Amino acid sequence: MGQALPKPALRPFLATDTPVLAAIFAASVEELTGEDYSEAQQQAWAGAADDEEQFGKRLANELTLVATLQNSPVGFAALKGKDHIDMLYVHPGVVGQGVASMLLDALEKLAGGRGAKTLTVDASDNASEFFTKRGYTATRRNTVTVNGEWLANTTMQKTLGEGAATGGPT
Ligand SMILES: CC(C)(COP(=O)(O)OP(=O)(O)OC[C@H]1O[C@@H](n2cnc3c(N)ncnc32)[C@H](O)[C@@H]1OP(=O)(O)O)[C@@H](O)C(=O)NCCC(=O)NCCS
Repeated sequence: MGQALPKPALRPFLATDTPVLAAIFAASVEELTGEDYSEAQQQAWAGAADDEEQFGKRLANELTLVATLQNSPVGFAALKGKDHIDMLYVHPGVVGQGVASMLLDALEKLAGGRGAKTLTVDASDNASEFFTKRGYTATRRNTVTVNGEWLANTTMQKTLGEGAATGGPT
């Protein structure tokens, strides 16, 4: 029998995490979104973390959680205000291991604690299936400009309530 995979853990964002989270952001966009976005779109999107000072301010101004594996950051998620998921990014090396689900569950609980009744996200096309599986439904299709490129995404919404963050039986 092989060894059990280490379990991810969550902790709050620290300013010193900024460079590694910027690197996770860029790697995640560059390696995980190619089926839905062109290379030019990916480069423009990944470029949103090039200015680390500005990126760090964005993370600090929101409620940012960092997922770690053996104490190293492997993903992060940020709640803007009480009811909008601004960011959810996982390092390509650890996708499919439940890291994003763990981050999302925690953000849903924190949003509920802040009094949110619903939670929204402007989901990228590659992430919309992930959010659908977690109970989010599409409400609007958007086209936004990032660093001079047009990118499509979908506003999705979930009503928080009993069992909302538990992913209980369907
Ligand atoms: C979308 C993303 C955050 C998912 O991260 P992850 O850690 O691999 O997600 P999980 O391991 O928690 O996956 C949970 C479930 O979603 C599924 N899933 C994950 N990514 C998926 C995808 N791109 N498409 C379809 N299903 C996906 C998994 O198979 C798993 O299914 P299960 O619950 O039936 O087992 C990650 O792929 C990512 O960082 N993408 C690029 C950045 C991005 O687009 N972020 C979202 C911005 S709104």
